[in-house]
Amino acid sequence: MSQSAPQKTLTASDIRARKGQDPLVCLTAYTTPVAQLVDAECDLVLVGDSVGMVLHGLPSTLGVTMEMMILHGRAVARGIERAMLVIDMPFGSYEESPAQAFRNAARLMAETGAAAVKLEGGAHMADTIRFIVERGIPVMAHIGLTPQAVNALGGYKVQGRAEDAERIHADARAVTEAGAFSVVLEKVPATLADQITDEIAIPTVGIGASAGCDGQILVIDDMLGLFDAFKPKFVKRYADLAKDARDAIRAYAAEVRSRSFPAPEHVFSDEGKGA
Ligand code: KIV
Repeated sequence: MSQSAPQKTLTASDIRARKGQDPLVCLTAYTTPVAQLVDAECDLVLVGDSVGMVLHGLPSTLGVTMEMMILHGRAVARGIERAMLVIDMPFGSYEESPAQAFRNAARLMAETGAAAVKLEGGAHMADTIRFIVERGIPVMAHIGLTPQAVNALGGYKVQGRAEDAERIHADARAVTEAGAFSVVLEKVPATLADQITDEIAIPTVGIGASAGCDGQILVIDDMLGLFDAFKPKFVKRYADLAKDARDAIRAYAAEVRSRSFPAPEHVFSDEGKGA
């Protein structure tokens, strides 16, 4: 009898060790069935606070709560076997103090089974990252465009152009020195992303950054074409599921109106087999 070895779940050390190796494949997920789909191909699955916009119809990620993250985190954890599961810390759950960040990061991990948290911010969050990493919580940093700071940044703009590049370099150095195991670079110029990738010792995961990053991440609903309220330049649509869904719903509506659904094979007779 042949028995296959149990799946090994990837850890922060495994992801960290992929620096400069073959690219890390990362996607977001918010539900169990989608987690099962992405787990088959991904090294890292993020329960992103993008859930607020793509599943809950919020105008930004600012209204996302700990309770929402925990609910979706638990659902995703049920679908993951191999990938590393990372969960976003929502706006307002970590910025006040390192102690507040530790308390909420520990709660997210204990209540969902995630193996790490992600939080937004560079140099100004370095003390917080150090504090929670030293207490046993792996941290993925997120710099460049940090959507929770959309109001302070004046919109979802490219970060780090021209003389602003040094600020992003400094952020990358600061989160690396603070002990983050990897860092998301969002919406920064490609040359800057390449320089940072060469410069720092932890894997960079790009979104709107560069193919030279150590890995890439996209929001699952964006790349499947399910979320079509708007499409940033950095999103490549690998499918058009919103169109497929609209076509299917239109076909269903027409068949209900014409009484051609349900057909004989979808209904039950008075007698015979079948549930
Ligand atoms: O919330 C999210 O989905 C993210 C990724 C896009 C990096 O932060």
